[in-house]
Amino acid sequence: MEGINLNQIGVSFKGSGSYVPNQILTNHDISEKVDTSDEWIKSRTGISQRRISGLEEDVSQMGYKAALKAIKMTNWDIETIDLIILATSTPNDLFGSAPSIQEKLGANNAVAFDLTAACSGFLFAAITASQFLKTGSYKRAIVIGSDQLSSYVDWNDRRSCILFGDGAGAIAIEATNEFDNLIGFDMRTDGQRGCFLNLSSQNNQDVIVNNINCSTGGFSSITMNGQEVYKFAVREVPLIIDNLLKKNKYSSENVDWLLLHQANKRILDSVGDRLNISKGKILSNLSNYGNTSAATIPLILDEAVRNNKIKQNDVIATSGFGAGLSWGAALIRWG
Ligand code: ACO
Repeated sequence: MEGINLNQIGVSFKGSGSYVPNQILTNHDISEKVDTSDEWIKSRTGISQRRISGLEEDVSQMGYKAALKAIKMTNWDIETIDLIILATSTPNDLFGSAPSIQEKLGANNAVAFDLTAACSGFLFAAITASQFLKTGSYKRAIVIGSDQLSSYVDWNDRRSCILFGDGAGAIAIEATNEFDNLIGFDMRTDGQRGCFLNLSSQNNQDVIVNNINCSTGGFSSITMNGQEVYKFAVREVPLIIDNLLKKNKYSSENVDWLLLHQANKRILDSVGDRLNISKGKILSNLSNYGNTSAATIPLILDEAVRNNKIKQNDVIATSGFGAGLSWGAALIRWG
């Protein structure tokens, strides 16, 4: 940390990076395992294939590769990074995977920690990091979304296994005292509806000594009520974005890009319709990667920045939503 600066009032988005594993799992491949078809999956979800990490890959390795690319876009000296937040639900170390990314990067002056909020995780992490920057506590932050859901999918459950894939994305955020490119945000959770999507611990009982029992750690596979999650997304996401736009005196015409968590093409289209945002402004890469949980937003953001779709000063309405249930939205200006 270079020192507290109480004049910092805003943040600026300086770089992006992403990484996906090489292994490709197509809909045809899945149809060899469970009773489904390429046609069904494409028409109900928009997904054609997804990436699956190999045995040698994990969340911190994928996150490191994405973070390094984001840092390269900035030309920052790695020693000047103050904060690294890793959004993940599938850490390779339950004590936290972010410090191992810090170590791989050689970001010796940064504090690094994990944040878990499922598919809203990256958005929540980017907002959290921005608060440290806006208060003047820190100057430079890397926010990473990295997930390896393939390890927790029940590959015999056709209702959920078709959706998920692995990957990572990252952004570099810097404090500034000239403007604020995080125009506004909102975050919500509703634990009452949490039962619709879970990746719960599965405890077995063990005896330590005599009558003292404990439970051994472990996790079951993802369980999901797809219809309820779908209804939740198409109801809450347009609402939270619409309120955010109104609160900040923006209209949907002022939005250059709608950047939603990539869960299902029908959810993207429905949210776009409800907000009156044209199809050409809705970013989508679901077909190639499926739902990579905390990674979807920075992954597609990085693709769009690198192929010159998203340009400096473009206004992006973004929303993450998923297990918790959790959801949130941010209105940002890129750059
Ligand atoms: N292939 C063929 N048939 C299938 C498949 C499949 N893969 N999956 C379900 N079906 C069948 C069902 O058995 C059912 O058959 P039935 O009518 O004979 O009982 C029929 O298709 C319809 O099933 P629905 O569950 O109603 O299908 P739906 O149109 O709702 O699509 C889907 C299912 C794609 C899962 C959808 O509900 C969805 O996308 N929901 C959102 C899920 C989501 O995004 N989850 C992640 C959130 S982010 C996070 O935090 C991780």
